[in-house]
Amino acid sequence: MADSPISHHNAAESNKEDATHEQRAQMEQAYQQMQRKMRMTKMDEQIKNKIMVLSGKGGVGKSTVATGLALSLAKQGQKVGIMDIDITGPNVPKMLGLDEVELNVENGQIFPAIGPYGLKVISMGFLLEDPDKPVIWRGPIKLGAIQQFIGDVSWGELDSLIIDFPPGTSDEPLTVSQHLPGIDGVVIVTTPQEVALLDSRKSINFAKTISVPVLGVLENMSGFNISGNGEPNSTISIQGPTGSPIDCNINEDGNWSVTLDIFKSGGGEEASKELLVPYLGSLPFDPGIVRGGDDGVHRIISVPDGDTAKAFNKIIERINEELEKSQDSTISIT
Ligand SMILES: Nc1ncnc2c1ncn2[C@@H]1O[C@H](COP(=O)(O)OP(=O)(O)OP(=O)(O)O)[C@@H](O)[C@H]1O
Ligand SMILES: [Mg+2]
Repeated sequence: MADSPISHHNAAESNKEDATHEQRAQMEQAYQQMQRKMRMTKMDEQIKNKIMVLSGKGGVGKSTVATGLALSLAKQGQKVGIMDIDITGPNVPKMLGLDEVELNVENGQIFPAIGPYGLKVISMGFLLEDPDKPVIWRGPIKLGAIQQFIGDVSWGELDSLIIDFPPGTSDEPLTVSQHLPGIDGVVIVTTPQEVALLDSRKSINFAKTISVPVLGVLENMSGFNISGNGEPNSTISIQGPTGSPIDCNINEDGNWSVTLDIFKSGGGEEASKELLVPYLGSLPFDPGIVRGGDDGVHRIISVPDGDTAKAFNKIIERINEELEKSQDSTISIT
């Protein structure tokens, strides 16, 4: 009989059991959260420089810059990690030729994939079943996933961690800044057009809100360099992007080179002056970057002595200077 005293008793017993199950699950969850928090605090000690790469708008080259900075640093002998927080369009694995890689998970710890020059790579892309299927995450679930993701990665000791984000000053960088202690600075990527000012302003204001120093603005897709040979010590005229001719001197060895400002120029530098933040320099427009991004061999690997690789090295020098300055000023305040 359904309502006999015995069956009532059983229902009560099973409710009690359910409650303890629930309680156990809650305790387990609280314990995991505590462990995660401890790991995040430990990450602060284990990772020397944590740098966020942001932009106000999409498609300006954040992922290209983040991977380029990480690879250039790793090439110099640093222990480097890159974390790709873009859930809806994670491009970092593809750019590093790691899109087929599966992550190693042991005892609830995620181990990064290993890319060129020993670069440690973590991307939300590694967790997606089908990278071509767009993922629609509801806000809180997405942020919960990011939080868990940060705390569960076993990076080990790193000199630098570069963090790539989706465009805009949206929830993702905020969540990362709230959960990953001790972010050292923000690098803002922009393009040469005048709107750069508007776009960079948003990112700078965001950095201020989360109290993280702006290391500087970087202008991507700056001039396009062309070069050639001709009659030594003569001049040639080249049709510029705006239609007006550019005179170019051929040197005594018969070489010439000129930079074409396809998308105007100087937007990044002007933005940094106006917004009173450092200027980190520029990266040339380089069609090889597009091919490299598609083939999974970054331009700085395929042409290590090319203009792009050199530009990345200069930008790293500037970032290091700014990091030193901001770390010195932190020390003098405390
Ligand atoms: N300096 C450059 N020269 C030529 N092409 C470039 C350069 N930088 C980036 N690109 C190309 O522009 C496109 C966008 O770059 P990328 O994916 O790095 O931008 P993003 O800001 O990360 O985009 P999203 O906002 O979608 O994350 C890519 O095809 C990339 O290869
Ligand atoms: Mg990107």
